[in-house]
Amino acid sequence: MKYEWLATAAFGLEGVVRKELNDLGLSARAENGAVRFEGTAQDAFRAALWLRCADRVQLLVTEGPVKTFENLFRLVRGCPWQEFLPRNAAFPVSGKCVRSQLMSVSDCQAIAKKALAEELMAYYHMPWCEENGAQYPVQVAIHSDHARVTLDACGDALNRRGYRTWNGEAPLRETLAAAMILLSPWKKGQPLHDPCCGTGTLLIEATMIAANRAPGLYRSFLMEKWGMLSAHDIEMIRNQAKVAMVLPDIPPISGTDIDEAAVELANRHIQQAKLQDYIHVSVCDLKELNLETKDVMFVANPPYGERLSDKKSCEKLYHSMREMKDRHEGSRLCVLTGHPGFERAFGQRASKKRRLYNGRLECEYLIY
Ligand SMILES: C[S@@+](CC[C@H](N)C(=O)[O-])C[C@H]1O[C@@H](n2cnc3c(N)ncnc32)[C@H](O)[C@@H]1O
Repeated sequence: MKYEWLATAAFGLEGVVRKELNDLGLSARAENGAVRFEGTAQDAFRAALWLRCADRVQLLVTEGPVKTFENLFRLVRGCPWQEFLPRNAAFPVSGKCVRSQLMSVSDCQAIAKKALAEELMAYYHMPWCEENGAQYPVQVAIHSDHARVTLDACGDALNRRGYRTWNGEAPLRETLAAAMILLSPWKKGQPLHDPCCGTGTLLIEATMIAANRAPGLYRSFLMEKWGMLSAHDIEMIRNQAKVAMVLPDIPPISGTDIDEAAVELANRHIQQAKLQDYIHVSVCDLKELNLETKDVMFVANPPYGERLSDKKSCEKLYHSMREMKDRHEGSRLCVLTGHPGFERAFGQRASKKRRLYNGRLECEYLIY
């Protein structure tokens, strides 16, 4: 049986997620903040396991215009919830209202919860819903008077791969780090180095991509407890992902950072990701960096300098990055920056640019 699913994504990453879904053999359509695809529960589980740049996979239960609470109640009540939820399902409801007539999130949540509970009670002939079974988190998202009602198939967001348990100062989201690697011209077999590696996110994501390791391999997803997937399906899809890994073939991947504590954290994350045999990190100021490797791909997320005083020192750092690149014959550089003056400080225009968001901050991804 096929359903409609949404892979939600940060603004700017919808096209990358669509391509990832296409690579999984699923045709998909990008929208603002999400990519829509049709598929079976097995397809959606495979997507949850493999998508590197999406935030969540959600089952789209229903959608439609809503201008009043009555509209919303009818929309939710009119769904065959019993197709998805067993009698003891736990169904917390969250909400979001943007530029709509219905703007009270708490009222929309309460109305959706009531409509859904009434439908389940009528179908299963129950006086109330015990909600002591598997989790089916419902989201009611209303945008411009159009409501989308979804079930979250993931639990923790997809960026929670399970390797990051300690946070550094300004860690990059795993999904954005993976997108930076996928959008870079990094070629198979080429050495990769992050000269501002911080807690190691870019290095770990790059290694997982090179090794063809499914990012969700070592975590679980809520939908594994839903009745739509059998234990056999889950085991088969996980086993296929294990067989697809090509760990010994990966190129040299390394990182350096001026901050000793950050490098220590990077090492811990690398161990948590079980990649200590493939990534090397050490303390080094990028001004001094001199790698022996040729044709290296530098990928970095340097500081942006939020305050004016920091901005000046960041500009000096960007200039040093230019010198670092020039010292390394045949190297290329990909930088994510929220500092609009990067190219000026670096002293060269990027050959390619793309707008990406680091959280809410608009950034440029520059490729040299
Ligand atoms: C925005 S953070 C990078 C975060 C990293 N991508 C992560 O996921 O944790 C910028 C990093 O640049 C490092 N840095 C600043 N100046 C540096 C320099 N001169 N040489 C090397 N690293 C530097 C900082 O210590 C910090 O860890």
